[in-house]
Amino acid sequence: MMTLRSLALEADIDENKITIRLLDQTLLPQEEKWLTIETNAQMIEAIKSLRVRGAPLIGVAASLMVAQLAVQDTSQTELLTQAKNLYEARPTAVNLMICIDRMTKRIKENFLPRKIVDLAVQIFDEDVILCQKIAANGAALIEDGDQILTHCNTGGLATAGVGTALGVIRLAHQQGKKIHVYIDETRPLLQGGRLTAWELKKLNIPCTLITDSTAAHLMSLKKITKAIVGSDRIAVNGDFANKIGTYSVAVNCHYHEIPFYVAAPYTTVDTNCQHGDEIPIEQRAAKEVQGVSGSFGEVLWAPSGVAVYNPAFDVTPAKLVSAWILDRATFNKKDVDQGALKSC
Ligand code: MRU
Repeated sequence: MMTLRSLALEADIDENKITIRLLDQTLLPQEEKWLTIETNAQMIEAIKSLRVRGAPLIGVAASLMVAQLAVQDTSQTELLTQAKNLYEARPTAVNLMICIDRMTKRIKENFLPRKIVDLAVQIFDEDVILCQKIAANGAALIEDGDQILTHCNTGGLATAGVGTALGVIRLAHQQGKKIHVYIDETRPLLQGGRLTAWELKKLNIPCTLITDSTAAHLMSLKKITKAIVGSDRIAVNGDFANKIGTYSVAVNCHYHEIPFYVAAPYTTVDTNCQHGDEIPIEQRAAKEVQGVSGSFGEVLWAPSGVAVYNPAFDVTPAKLVSAWILDRATFNKKDVDQGALKSC
């Protein structure tokens, strides 16, 4: 038996059985509860409700789900249907689609459970390496004394490896650079306040949690020297989608002349997407904005029935990005304008 292990996902892989466990991220940081995923409906629910989340990790988890179904003697037609259901679980993170496209191709061309499992394991292992490469490229940009703003959660909880933007921060810290991280709490689902704060505390990386609206104020006080975020989909012109609020961070950095970086693996680049306008933006439930829920239950504070607009992501235009930190290399605007992202 082989076991794959990351901060939020584990899989025991046997010839006839794959057991997938997910750390339920909706309950963090108060409760560390692992869920065993036994059906595709459970995996789809976990993806939609953000029990498993982060663009790279949902692609990895969905691929392992296809492998689990493959070793259960699922017919080829049924496996293709279930893969399509996974593909549609969340619309913005292209990693999910890219991973499921790869799994679907394998099911069509080489319908042998062992081959399907091999590809899912490869996707997991590859994500670990991609994170290491992003971290190495990005850490080269971080200097002693940097005070870094980050948004959402882009760490070990969001990938199979050390993370994207948070992987860069983690490596810079390991290299002995004296850095301080300001964490946007990231309304409405608080991935910063709940998850990034949890990860950075575990890693002993100096950090301070702020409300999203405090970031511009800190910039005006010259307390932020760099901002680094992850992405759910990058268009070939360099525009990119990330957690709602990222665009505000970019605009504020531009005004204050602070370098603003995006870090992501090639599996986040959508080579079929020319421009940020083409990126589908997930709309989520009103109650996420009307209140908050977690291990403590649900609290609603807004008047019942009030209209809510709750896009999960926004698009940051390429002109606000100082550099795109990918696994292959770090690209500047000139590289991107010359088509660097077309061949990622
Ligand atoms: O809705 P989420 O929590 O899945 O959104 C995650 C993000 O926006 C991350 O910044 C992005 O996926 C990059 S994670 C390495």
